[in-house]
Amino acid sequence: MKLLLPTIFLFGMSGILLAHSGATGVVKTRMDAMVEVSEATKVLGAMSKSGVIDPLIVQAATDTLMEKAAHAPELFEQRDLSSPTEALPAIWENYDDFSAKFDAMGRAARMLRESADDRETFDAAFRALGKTCQSCHEIYRLKK
Ligand code: HEC
Repeated sequence: MKLLLPTIFLFGMSGILLAHSGATGVVKTRMDAMVEVSEATKVLGAMSKSGVIDPLIVQAATDTLMEKAAHAPELFEQRDLSSPTEALPAIWENYDDFSAKFDAMGRAARMLRESADDRETFDAAFRALGKTCQSCHEIYRLKK
């Protein structure tokens, strides 16, 4: 893990630079927030894969996820579809449903946090978290 985490971190930072050139204002803010979500998820995924589950890292990563889940609906309140956003107009047609999907992500992160002492539960909770990402992206994020 000592080697793995910085690698994930560096990889993630280059991802921010590549994906967000040109993004400004609220679009940039919410894209950056999603990248933080993604980084935290990668860290948790690496632990699920390796079976080396560090409770402190789980705590930090799920803190990030729960915090982002709580604040993300605010970041998307303003309808802004400026390039290079991947957000779809459907967000503002079903804003309540969209926000509820962030709640589901927050709940899944909490479950994951509470399962750090058992590999099998942890893996299942990680898969459940992944489904909450998917279920939102499927409807509300542009497919590449
Ligand atoms: C409630 C909806 C929702 C949930 C839940 C959600 N996302 Fe997203 N995500 C979005 C939207 C919308 C965008 C596009 C934002 C934009 O481009 O303005 C996005 C963008 C992203 C991006 C691209 C960021 C960039 O600009 O480079 C990543 C990576 C990502 N999400 C990962 C995740 C992961 C991992 C999870 C689950 C832990 C997750 N998302 C959960 C809605 C969601």
